[in-house]
Amino acid sequence: MKIDFVAMTSALTPKAAQARLVYEGAPADATLSQAAAASRFTGAKGQVLDVLAPSGSEAARLVLVGLGKKELVDALGVEHGAASAYGAVKTSGLTHLRIELPNAGPELAARAALGVLLASYRFDKYRTKEPAEKKPSIVTVEIVADDVAKAKEAFEPLLALSDAITFTRDLVSEPPNVLYPAEFAARVKALESLGLEVEILGEAEMMKLGMGSLLGVGQGSVRDSQLAIMRWNGASDKNAQPIAFIGKGVCFDTGGISIKPAENMEDMKWDMGGAGAVAGLMHVLAGRKAKVNAVGILGLVENMPDGNAQRPGDVVTSMSGQTIEIINTDAEGRLVLADAIWYCQDRFKPKLMVDLATLTGAIIIALGHDLAGCYANDETLAANLISASNIEGEPLWRMPLPSQYDKNIDSMIADMKNTGGRPGGSITAAMFIQRFTNGVPWAHLDIAGTAWKKPSAAPTSPEGATGFGVRLLNRMVADKYES
Ligand code: BES
Ligand code: MN
Ligand code: ZN
Repeated sequence: MKIDFVAMTSALTPKAAQARLVYEGAPADATLSQAAAASRFTGAKGQVLDVLAPSGSEAARLVLVGLGKKELVDALGVEHGAASAYGAVKTSGLTHLRIELPNAGPELAARAALGVLLASYRFDKYRTKEPAEKKPSIVTVEIVADDVAKAKEAFEPLLALSDAITFTRDLVSEPPNVLYPAEFAARVKALESLGLEVEILGEAEMMKLGMGSLLGVGQGSVRDSQLAIMRWNGASDKNAQPIAFIGKGVCFDTGGISIKPAENMEDMKWDMGGAGAVAGLMHVLAGRKAKVNAVGILGLVENMPDGNAQRPGDVVTSMSGQTIEIINTDAEGRLVLADAIWYCQDRFKPKLMVDLATLTGAIIIALGHDLAGCYANDETLAANLISASNIEGEPLWRMPLPSQYDKNIDSMIADMKNTGGRPGGSITAAMFIQRFTNGVPWAHLDIAGTAWKKPSAAPTSPEGATGFGVRLLNRMVADKYES
């Protein structure tokens, strides 16, 4: 889809759809006041009024979208409004949409464009027989802006963000026979074209490093485990200490020998959503040439049952030297992160680390599908994450790391065990990861509930992969860590 910014005075393309985002209570013009009255349209947030072939207008269709009360409208509201406008006409058969905002300064016009782009995402590469009338018909969208040149400039970093979110959503949507660890690594390697440095470690290299915890998870798979290391050195001092992001990349999680029930197991193709978000973050940092040094580490494995698979009862030695008794092979994400995090600290001595993982079903029970869990050993980092998350509409909720639960993962025969039982399951998983941090400010985001949505809630996030995490981390980096 092509997106453009135009002046209010530019002529409407014949047979275009026209959308107007309006504040609550704003007087509708005479042609529309009757339609508004006949459908209880007041301009309240989220309301959509679709008028077909309005008389006296050149538009084939006029869509009014409510933004809510003027004093409460923020950039996210404008983005959602533009996304709803697109949603109202996307399969209408019309090919052109023009969107008008009540306040079309460069920032808001650019955010409207972002809303449309995010709403237009679909993963259709494996559909061969979709009827034409079900396919989106809109091919060009114009956003009316007060200052076209400034709007285009403001849109540049947002286009980089949209491209990155699309990259993440594609990774998360790909079926697990296509996106196995080596294929994931290859797609990340291809991002070198953006100026990222990417290294890929295979099993032999990880064996040398002593990553017994990560390798144990992939041991039952015929697909080799991989560790991807992505680096963006955009700070003026290329040697300045980096900030680091670590992602759980379980390309498919059967549970292993502690196998999962069949129902909904197909969902476990998106158990690499954390790694997908970290890859997307590195994509946007490079895409908008962020002035920061950042490292992204992805632990890529497939968790399969097999004659060679890891068993409950096994003891593995992690790169940190700490030993782990495997109680449940389905608690594999923390095993992957343990070595990826240790490697990250050991090699890069980062200023801070944030890991993202679809780690536990328990976080879904605790927080549902709209909020991700945020664990942190550092108040500044937690505050920075939470404020960025609220600005970007990817909300986080702070969760505790209560020391009295730490003993729940003590083992009879090793330094620790990999599950702490069902009570507080998301917390003890986070506390397991904490045992592999070494004094570095660290946060863990459990995104099991938010990486994928059916049905979807926000108009900017169609059903399926959300790309959760990319926006909020990009915002945090931009606001707090760029020089
Ligand atoms: N990938 C799952 C967590 C998950 C569950 C993500 C549902 C998204 C939706 C993770 O590897 C897992 O299996 N966790 C177990 C841990 C348990 C065995 C201690 C869980 O949450 O049940
Ligand atoms: Mn699992
Ligand atoms: Zn998993």
